Amino acid sequence: MAASLQPSLIVHGGAGDWSSEDGDGEALVAACAAAARAGFEILRAGGSALDAATAAVVVLEDDPRFNAGTGSALTVDGEVECDASVMCGDGRAGAVGALRDVRNPIRLARLVMEKTPHVLLVGAGAGAFAVECGLTPVPPGALVTERMRDKWRAAVARAAGAPAASGGTVGCVARDAAGRVAAATSTGGMMLKRRGRVGDSAVIGAGTYADDGAGAVSCTGHGEAFIKAAAAKQVVEALRAGRSPAEAAREVLPAIRRHGGSGGLICVGADGRLGFAFDTPRMAHAWIDADGREGAGFRAV
Ligand code: GLY
Repeated sequence: MAASLQPSLIVHGGAGDWSSEDGDGEALVAACAAAARAGFEILRAGGSALDAATAAVVVLEDDPRFNAGTGSALTVDGEVECDASVMCGDGRAGAVGALRDVRNPIRLARLVMEKTPHVLLVGAGAGAFAVECGLTPVPPGALVTERMRDKWRAAVARAAGAPAASGGTVGCVARDAAGRVAAATSTGGMMLKRRGRVGDSAVIGAGTYADDGAGAVSCTGHGEAFIKAAAAKQVVEALRAGRSPAEAAREVLPAIRRHGGSGGLICVGADGRLGFAFDTPRMAHAWIDADGREGAGFRAV
């Protein structure tokens, strides 16, 4: 390692509206805090920002209360199609879109980065790559939870087929002791989305971005608006221009709204400072800063 800095990291569990199941959000915040600790353990042991961000996202993909991996939102056809992406501050990036039957899409996004000359694989091609990499597909329907099936039925009855933001996208950004940053994002996307729809969580520059000279970002919200705003890249450029992470996070939200969306994001600067912002009623998040202080939250203050 080139330098020994104090590592830091922040996790989100998705921006969204209040749901009757959210209660006061404590359980979701606790899950984010556990994911943050899992990632931070890796950083504390001298591991990379990439390993830490990936590990934290895997924890939340495996938690059925979040809209990523197990527990993902369902397409209009009632299927799970996941998006995920990862980026390192040295410019390496990988992503998957409209991916079926892979338990941890973030692992496959990382394999796209590490084992192919490509950035984004989608659909059946991504599935075939998973098999090639030895990621055994789960049985069809294994990622569908009863809770999401019920929500889907209600959405079909209510919305007559209109897609809707589901909340619960997950993400993590980290800076390690060597000063490297990384970002990872994973989602089941929108409820009732069309088959083949890919959102910002699979798009480098929209839902995920990292640059060792500036910082790293993971977004959550209406994917189409984040793509049109090139949101994650905008935040990194604001960090590069000297904004604090909190300012950079806040300042991108009007651009999301101009494109008809809402949501939130987390970011870490190249100096390890952390930031977040959201304009939805809630966004579960948890962090451990460079002084080792832990924090977490759910609602707008
Ligand atoms: N931000 C998640 C999505 O729109 O798919």
